[in-house]
Amino acid sequence: MQLNTRVMGHRGAAILAPENTLASIKAAAAAGAKWVEIDVCLIAEGGLVIFHDDTLERCTNGQGITRQALPEALAQLDAGSWFAPEFSNEKVPTLLEALACIQALGLGLNLEIKHADADVENIVPAVLAALDEHWQDNDMLMISSFNHQALVLCKEIDSSRHLAQLYEGIPEHWLADLQAINAYSLNCDHSVLTQEQALAVKAEGYKLLCYTANQADLVTGHWQWGMDAVITDDPGQFSDYF
Ligand code: G3P
Ligand code: MG
Repeated sequence: MQLNTRVMGHRGAAILAPENTLASIKAAAAAGAKWVEIDVCLIAEGGLVIFHDDTLERCTNGQGITRQALPEALAQLDAGSWFAPEFSNEKVPTLLEALACIQALGLGLNLEIKHADADVENIVPAVLAALDEHWQDNDMLMISSFNHQALVLCKEIDSSRHLAQLYEGIPEHWLADLQAINAYSLNCDHSVLTQEQALAVKAEGYKLLCYTANQADLVTGHWQWGMDAVITDDPGQFSDYF
């Protein structure tokens, strides 16, 4: 896959609108981003929703553990007022609602499968089945996760998907991890990446993406090291790279 962007909106565009909502995805597109990163997680009854946290409090007016939320109840929550009153109609999107919105906007998607150690065998087949049915262009899709076993299972189920191993700091065993999943890219925290690590990743032929940089001057050197794309809450800061 030719990665046709250098700027991905993080959780949509988390500085511009409530993260991981349809408003945030639309804000990323309006700001000029051609791809968005969003987080998918599993809730009760096999529901798949776009949400970051293990608990509901920070980003909705609900309470409790995200994994235990019932789809019908979660769909009623206000997922926008915490950010600003004008977003009070925002909901926690289902995966299918987000896929439809992103494709309608013509965006690429970096879909992050959230940590789910006990649930890898529940969430991964369900996400892949949803993508099979509801996502059109495999070259506009990256599946990322911090959870290596989730990515191993992705590869076993569908080796055609473009997989990205997520790290904060890059560990010693990164190359074995990437080889095990036939990775497309390594996605890591820009603030702890070293030049030596970046050059090593690029020398092995992988794409290198860095999160979450919200000012262009934070990653000036990273482009020189070979960084392929930045993941940012504020895509407009990187308009020089669109
Ligand atoms: O994909 C990059 C980034 O989203 C990973 O961290 O916690 O923001 O999902 P987090
Ligand atoms: Mg994420």
